[in-house]
Amino acid sequence: VEDLVVLGIETSCDDTAAAVVRGNGEILSQVVSSQADLLARNGGVDPKMAGEAHSQVIDQVVQETLDKANLTEKDLSAVAVTIGPGLSICLRVGVQKARKVAGRFNLPIISVHHMEAHTLVARLIEKNLQFPFVALLISGGHNLLILAHDLGQYTQLGTTIDDAIGEAFDKTAKWLGLDMRRSGGPAIEELAGEGNAESVRFSIPMKQHKDCNFSYAGLKTQVKLAIASKNIDATIPISCASSQDRSSRADIAASFQRVAVLHLEERCQRAIEWALKIEPSIKSLVVSGGVASNQYVRARLNQIVKNNGLQLVCPPPSLCTDNGVMVAWTGIEQFVVGRYDPPPPVNEPEDFV
Ligand code: KG4
Ligand code: ZN
Repeated sequence: VEDLVVLGIETSCDDTAAAVVRGNGEILSQVVSSQADLLARNGGVDPKMAGEAHSQVIDQVVQETLDKANLTEKDLSAVAVTIGPGLSICLRVGVQKARKVAGRFNLPIISVHHMEAHTLVARLIEKNLQFPFVALLISGGHNLLILAHDLGQYTQLGTTIDDAIGEAFDKTAKWLGLDMRRSGGPAIEELAGEGNAESVRFSIPMKQHKDCNFSYAGLKTQVKLAIASKNIDATIPISCASSQDRSSRADIAASFQRVAVLHLEERCQRAIEWALKIEPSIKSLVVSGGVASNQYVRARLNQIVKNNGLQLVCPPPSLCTDNGVMVAWTGIEQFVVGRYDPPPPVNEPEDFV
């Protein structure tokens, strides 16, 4: 296992990412090429343009990843690649590249589920993290609570009935006129630090539903109304706003963040109770996905976890957002138990995928 060297490729959304990871969890190299500029220009992900952007950089990203690790394809044991969920036009770019490399160098290929990768990267960070555990996965497209019984065996405890929390952060940032050259989440987190989180009274979603599902559409509407009622003009970038205008934007950011996270806290508490009834040996809550890089989210969930006598496992921000390391590592976990496919034929036509 120690000698394994796996290349991981991730192109499911707007980041083109690759990494080389060793069987013992050592990260030999990683590269992320983000489409942030493209996103800012379009105000969101356009699948076709995102696919083209992946195609333009994929060869370079993989080459740079190998160079940084001082390796060539011949040193690899296998290639792991995200096959879903995600935008199919984008996923295809990664899968084609992975199959080309694997075919040419006679390497096994490992298919990785994007959300499983977000979950299992926690086991690279925390070597003592054993199954079963509970995981909260929070990103731009997903809001999931799962009970991880074993590799490839998960029970879904809850999901969103409309939007994911990251989407709510991104829209709030857009409506508040924040700099969209980066994703909205970090911009809201920063601005929230200046605001009063108690100043705007947003209601916590789905209080009356005693389950582990999520909803962020209603909170988004509440935010939109609050912005309108304070006469905030998002066409004026925050950098040009008056100090009074800036502070009312900060109050909304802080109040939104507080309630968005209270919703997570409530659901996590219930999920832990449910999960312990099914698997009493659970000791950890994993929190991963882009939104898990938020320090306020981490601090609040850490409190919930501590109250329940559990341990919080939250990867560092660079491994919470989409990355190649999580794919390579999940590839390793699967490879060790024989879950991989034989090398694809050499010169397989690209449109095969
Ligand atoms: O996991 P990820 O990189 O991509 C998806 O699979 O969606 O997550 C991206 C999401 C975006 O919505 C982004 O705004 C959010 O994660 N995000 C954050 C923070 N950093 C990234 N949300 C809140 N606070 C942050 N610091
Ligand atoms: Zn993701």
